Amino acid sequence: MHVLVLFAHPHRASFTGELADAFCEGLREAGHSLEFADLYQEGFNPLLDGGQFRLETAMDSESPRPEDVQAEQVRLERAEGLVFIYPFWWSDVPALLKGWFDRVWTYGYAYAYVEDRSRTTRLKARKALALCPAGHTDEKLDALGLREAHHRVMVEDRLLGVGIPEARLELLGGLSGNPPDVRQRILERAHALGAGF
Ligand SMILES: Cc1cc2nc3c(=O)[nH]c(=O)nc-3n(C[C@H](O)[C@H](O)[C@H](O)COP(=O)(O)O)c2cc1C
Repeated sequence: MHVLVLFAHPHRASFTGELADAFCEGLREAGHSLEFADLYQEGFNPLLDGGQFRLETAMDSESPRPEDVQAEQVRLERAEGLVFIYPFWWSDVPALLKGWFDRVWTYGYAYAYVEDRSRTTRLKARKALALCPAGHTDEKLDALGLREAHHRVMVEDRLLGVGIPEARLELLGGLSGNPPDVRQRILERAHALGAGF
């Protein structure tokens, strides 16, 4: 499978970056091909401006989107698998990645309504994974309902909700204070997820 890995952390040399390396190593070992998109390093502009706002709310599938958005969509065309790797910030994706969805998941591309108000999509990906390290422990993420909340938003709305048939979240908690045993366990998990993708 050809997999597009979308990485959203300001530092490639971070724990999230190490996790991405472990995941990609597993992916390669399993024989997948991959394209690595470092959204911060590429300078992706996450701000949906007034011009694109008008295009999205006009719901015209045919009106051309900004060139940088079209370039993202061309890259998505090649991907059978999509993997988002990002740190859990204020119980969500970093703002850069939120803006990526605002701008790239356009009307007419990620979703469009057909006559009976059901949705269609032009997305090619058959499978998606959100891979997200977090500071809170797994117990705290569960007790506060944050895993469930992020699953609903990221998986059910942003991924399954636009018609990707299979999507899941791996929210990997316990990183506050950077305990070495937790880091090691999470890196092993990331490698296994890549190998089993
Ligand atoms: C701005 C910011 C917001 C954060 N918000 C949360 C949060 O809401 N919940 C949580 O569990 N961890 C939170 N964290 C901790 C990060 O999720 C954790 O440090 C990260 O997953 C570790 O990866 P890194 O060392 O690669 O940054 C936050 C960290 C930062 C910098």
